[in-house]
Amino acid sequence: MMSKYEEIYRYSIDNPAGFWAEAAEDIHWFKKWDKVLDDSKKPLYRWFVGGELNTCYNALDRHIEAGRGDQTALIYDSPVTGVVRALSYKDLLDQVARFAGAMIGQGITKGDRVVIYMPMVPEAVVAMLACARIGAIHSVVFGGFAARELASRIDDAKPKLIVSASCGIEGKRIIDYKALLDEAIEISTVKPARCIILQRPQAEAVLRPGRDLDWQEVMAEAKPIDCVPVAATDPLYILYTSGTTGRPRGVVRDNGGHAVALKWSIKNVYGMQPGEVWWAASDVGWVVGHSYIVYAPLLNGNTTIVYEGKPVGTPDPGAFWRVISQHKVRALFTAPTAIRAIKREDPQGRYLDRYSISDFRTLFLAGERCDPNTLNWAQDILKVPVIDNWWQTETGWPIVANCLGIEKLPIKAGSPTKPVPGYDVQIFDEQGRVKAAGEFGNIVIKLPLPPGCLMTLWNNDEYYQKFYLDRYPGYYLTGDAGYKDEDGYLWIMSRIDDVINTAGHRLSTGAMEEVISSHPDVAECAVVGVADELKGELSVGFVVLKAGVKRPHEQIVAEVIQLVRDQIGPVAAFKKVAVVKRLPKTRSGKILRSTIRKMADGAEYEVPPTIDNPDALDEVKEALCKLGYPKSRF
Ligand code: COA
Ligand code: AMP
Repeated sequence: MMSKYEEIYRYSIDNPAGFWAEAAEDIHWFKKWDKVLDDSKKPLYRWFVGGELNTCYNALDRHIEAGRGDQTALIYDSPVTGVVRALSYKDLLDQVARFAGAMIGQGITKGDRVVIYMPMVPEAVVAMLACARIGAIHSVVFGGFAARELASRIDDAKPKLIVSASCGIEGKRIIDYKALLDEAIEISTVKPARCIILQRPQAEAVLRPGRDLDWQEVMAEAKPIDCVPVAATDPLYILYTSGTTGRPRGVVRDNGGHAVALKWSIKNVYGMQPGEVWWAASDVGWVVGHSYIVYAPLLNGNTTIVYEGKPVGTPDPGAFWRVISQHKVRALFTAPTAIRAIKREDPQGRYLDRYSISDFRTLFLAGERCDPNTLNWAQDILKVPVIDNWWQTETGWPIVANCLGIEKLPIKAGSPTKPVPGYDVQIFDEQGRVKAAGEFGNIVIKLPLPPGCLMTLWNNDEYYQKFYLDRYPGYYLTGDAGYKDEDGYLWIMSRIDDVINTAGHRLSTGAMEEVISSHPDVAECAVVGVADELKGELSVGFVVLKAGVKRPHEQIVAEVIQLVRDQIGPVAAFKKVAVVKRLPKTRSGKILRSTIRKMADGAEYEVPPTIDNPDALDEVKEALCKLGYPKSRF
């Protein structure tokens, strides 16, 4: 007999249109779709074609009409400012409708882009939902990126308006967001007509007359605006993510498929019931923030927490347990790094003794590979199931997970469990043949992807096809590699490209190499992700200097580190660089990055027979020792 999970999974794969049409009944439509799945422009599929809805209506108005208006929609918990504030569904709608009115007042209409560059404050959520309300397309940029990265997103998205804040707060430090924004607009080719700036008391910004407006002032004058019906296939947002080069990829999400998939997922994957308190401890700048701080919990009538703090240091490693206890959190979603940071400072979990977390049911971990030690430690101290789930910015919601809302399957630490209904996941060899159980290969998903996944890359169907669909026709290339075991569990082991994961943040080593190569003394360089106990992976750079450069190496190294911080941002956490005489290469001139990485990780590696300069490997080893990696690793 098939288990409940198997039954639902089979149905979703055998009859995707039937499966998702049923799920779509849970969403309010102004006009029902004509076709559930449109495959007329294969491989570009569209969901719920002809349907009209409004995502903000489904996230707010609908709940108030159904009597949920006084329930808390959002709790802002900010240990860095000492503020805890609750907004009911009515309060949140009031702010969103007024901010939507303020945007209309500035000439923003359906289809216009709005960049949001904000710290973790409720106004970031208000701005996102207000865009959804009027059919404007938001593009949220993470605060830890430098001005140049923000500028490249402004140039690609071409926003009419940017919404930002005077500052962000990182632990005890004040980050001058407005200065970064001004610099980005200085560098960008596209200049937004308006910026709306939230002034925070920690550091007020100087506003530029004619361009900048004060959030409070525009809100005071704004008239609330009703929801605008949009097509299911109209874009809701663009979210940029790292690819293999310095050029970020603008993932485009639709309105219809997104609302259907996210509401389905928070119930069926995460097992959340309306009215319960849910906390995704991430940032609105990442996909986890979009999907599980903002949209999914509100679509489902949950209370969501916006946390402006860290797992440690704000003020101590008990910070997460305090929030869970104070707000009666049912489930927490965070990255394994956050748990490793807590474990490092409080290995016995003693801070947990100070709080009662009896309402707490589940810990979900995602964003990077979850090592079994971290999972087991969290499970031991919290005494609740710890559920790993695998997905990416492109999909917007889990590909592989233990779907607690359907049926809890046995947990195997190190595996995120089985494919989520809607995803036909396969392991392919280089030629596109299916690998046997236990054999390592490229992880692909059979097309069509389920609703809620990326429709395309912003203004670039060609790149979408080139990066994701051309490698194996009929399949989406995830960029991850791993295997399926005999029980059908997936094991996600590594990336097949230059993308690395530092503290749950997705970064491109290729982008870092582009920046380093612009240093006048650098002839060539390689950046690889090396295993790190806390952050999962850390980028390590190797630079070869131009002939005749006589300046002290320490000075050049410091400049290279600063360059990456200034051009990509502090989030790159790029702090380890060594100067070497040459880089190991094949005879055809390809840098042996994967050999360097394996060597640095202390993993087994083979020296390729095509290597041109085997001595260069010894130099890399020496450099790694100087950077503090123990000799015993190699
Ligand atoms: N705005 C500005 N700067 C930011 C920022 C933001 N929103 N987020 C991070 N930074 C800065 C940090 O201050 C740090 O700067 P520094 O080099 O001057 O110290 C740098 O970017 C690197 O940040 P991070 O990698 O986060 O390291 P950290 O030492 O500050 O914190 C952890 C370490 C483990 C506590 C932290 O990474 C964490 O909480 N991770 C959880 C991961 C997570 O939520 N991922 C989201 C996807 S699910
Ligand atoms: P992002 O797009 O920033 O969410 O990063 C997605 C990438 O992070 C994936 O392609 C994986 O490489 C990695 N990742 C995310 N979650 C997991 C997980 N649970 N296990 C292994 N890798 C993960």
